[in-house]
Amino acid sequence: MVTNGLSGVASSQVVRWECPPAPALFVDRTAELRQLVELCATRRKALLLVLDGPPGAGKSALARKLADAARESFPDGQLYADLREHRRGGGVELSGVVEGFLRSLGVSEPLPSDLSRLTGLLRSLLHDRRLLIVVDHVTTAEEVVRWLPNGDTCAVAVTSNHDLDELHQYGAVRVQIERLPLDDGVALLREHCGAQRVDAEAEAARRLVTLCDGLPLALNLVGAKLRRRTSLALADVAATLAAEPESVVLAAFDFAHDDLSQQARRLWALLGVHRGGELSVGAVAALMPGPEDVLEELTRANLLEWDELAGRVRLGEVGARHAARRAEENLTP
Ligand SMILES: Nc1ncnc2c1ncn2[C@@H]1O[C@H](COP(=O)(O)OP(=O)(O)O)[C@@H](O)[C@H]1O
Ligand SMILES: [Mg+2]
Repeated sequence: MVTNGLSGVASSQVVRWECPPAPALFVDRTAELRQLVELCATRRKALLLVLDGPPGAGKSALARKLADAARESFPDGQLYADLREHRRGGGVELSGVVEGFLRSLGVSEPLPSDLSRLTGLLRSLLHDRRLLIVVDHVTTAEEVVRWLPNGDTCAVAVTSNHDLDELHQYGAVRVQIERLPLDDGVALLREHCGAQRVDAEAEAARRLVTLCDGLPLALNLVGAKLRRRTSLALADVAATLAAEPESVVLAAFDFAHDDLSQQARRLWALLGVHRGGELSVGAVAALMPGPEDVLEELTRANLLEWDELAGRVRLGEVGARHAARRAEENLTP
């Protein structure tokens, strides 16, 4: 235990590795990852990294990959917060976020309720620690600036779909996560449904990547469907997607949704009513008793992530929007 002189609050020196794992299926991003790892390794002062890009491009996945790849640069570990879990009625409850960090750092005493005292305590505890703090799904610069560490040993990596230009004045290094290049998109499809099948329809595969706008999110939905339906031709899938006037990603969700059992469609729409990105399996069971089989079906279709160990279910941003739309269309009396 060390005692922080400023606050008198004790904090244990447990090393935390909080960042969730990156997806097992992961293609490309070598250049971006190399750049990020190098920035972490060569930092001489506090580092603020901003990963931005369109929804579904793979910012959260890359941030997780970074946390793992840059471990050596952060011997004191990593903290992680997903701000979607702290959003209440539009705004983020920052005191909850900071409190979470403090608890992770081993503070067990009762905490002040005042945000500036909480952030002061956090800054004191972070001083001289070589920690990476990953903050997922940031929407405004303020959500970061309010607690930003002032020492020069930590690094903060945030992901966002929004323009966080204001962070520039805090020395932010912006790394844009673009759509996957054509070949890497095809490689991702190959991972899903096998090289043979993809190579047999090479032109259609490239067309699918273009139609999915190179977004791993959309490609994973399409890939999961191709994996489930082994006789489906890639060219037919491309024709279906091309006929959709909607945004490609929503169309890809529609496409994955088409195949679902009635029960799974119902749960998907019910999750849309909930409108939260994340909920416990207990909360899901309140919507539909005994939801395990249906959750498995939705997970296989790549529509949501189900963390069985933690007992949590997570819809991505676009997925939540799609489910909300299904709720409006299908559940209104
Ligand atoms: N490089 C990649 N290779 C394969 N799948 C990826 C890659 N990047 C992201 N994904 C997958 O694509 C989906 C969207 O990624 P995510 O990181 O949540 O996007 P974002 O945070 O940009 O909205 C997830 O299912 C994720 O596992
Ligand atoms: Mg994300």
